[in-house]
Amino acid sequence: MNLKVSVIGAGNVGATTAHLIYQSGIADVVLFDIAEGVPQGKALDLAEAGPLWKVAASIKGSNNFADTSTSDIIVVTAGLPRKPGMSRDDLLHANADVIQNVVSNTAPLSPHGIYIVVTNPMDVMTHVAWKVSGFDARRIVGMGGVLDASRFRTFLGFELGVSPEDIETLVLGGHGDLMVPLPRHTTVKGIPVQDLLDQRRIEALIDRTRTGGAEIVSLLKTGSAYYAPAASVFQMVKSILFDEHRVLPCAVYLSGEYGVHDLFVGVPAILGKSGVEKIIELKLTDMEKAQVSASADAVRELLSMALAPKK
Ligand code: NAI
Ligand code: 2OP
Repeated sequence: MNLKVSVIGAGNVGATTAHLIYQSGIADVVLFDIAEGVPQGKALDLAEAGPLWKVAASIKGSNNFADTSTSDIIVVTAGLPRKPGMSRDDLLHANADVIQNVVSNTAPLSPHGIYIVVTNPMDVMTHVAWKVSGFDARRIVGMGGVLDASRFRTFLGFELGVSPEDIETLVLGGHGDLMVPLPRHTTVKGIPVQDLLDQRRIEALIDRTRTGGAEIVSLLKTGSAYYAPAASVFQMVKSILFDEHRVLPCAVYLSGEYGVHDLFVGVPAILGKSGVEKIIELKLTDMEKAQVSASADAVRELLSMALAPKK
């Protein structure tokens, strides 16, 4: 039997993720959305590319949660965009309700599945998904750090004129303005980035990384980034499905690591077939610790707003 990945939300990120998984042929894909016809149309369009891509796996679009049953991985991209007149608090509650609906309907059907949560605010929605699923926290992981690190690598590659493939970096903290890119753990083929760029330029690229999502939104005018987000999810999916043990920065449940308790925040973790196999704890400087702590505090504040009753 083929491996199976369900992608919930057939919008930009969900459909692009389904595209990458289906084209690679690594798993059967179910693309789910509440909008009738949209997941079916996108899945049929992708299936019609299958003969050209020589894909043996299947793809199905659906409005029926039953089709997601026995998934190995469930990628959650379902969410509402912010509408005029909607406060950040309204959006938080609206997306928490979407996660509640999606996870309560999918978890019982895929009791051995692993969730990758993408919906924003991602760290908070990952926590909500964990609570609703009742799953062991190692089977719930949020996507943010892979994307943020890939953006930092891209900007460093532009600046240095080197292939970003040869750049390694880590980004800690929540997937928001207070994320913590780590220049001390950034190298170009093993060469510390501080040996290649002055501090002022590094700081400018860190700022661009922190606002990388907003930079895309301001260019697109409607909607937010999806190609790099989907590629980031795809890397996490592969590490889990094929037990690759990649070291990837992602939102995982912390119970004391990095001084953070009972919260999902981005840190380097080893992803394998049972989900989060290990959290890697780095020795941080006092300044880095303070930055991670401030970022975690911001996530905790949003989480308490999301869990508070609606006004
Ligand atoms: P989109 O608006 O294109 O797609 C969202 C889809 O969710 C829509 O098709 C909508 O019909 C569907 N949906 C809404 N409620 C649903 C429900 N209850 N059940 C099933 N489907 C439902 O949005 P896009 O661009 O795909 O982004 C999706 C989410 O991912 C947003 O919250 C966005 O902010 C977030 N995001 C997070 C990133 C990260 O790094 N964590 C990166 C990029 C996007
Ligand atoms: C991004 O970073 C919107 O979280 C999304 O592009």
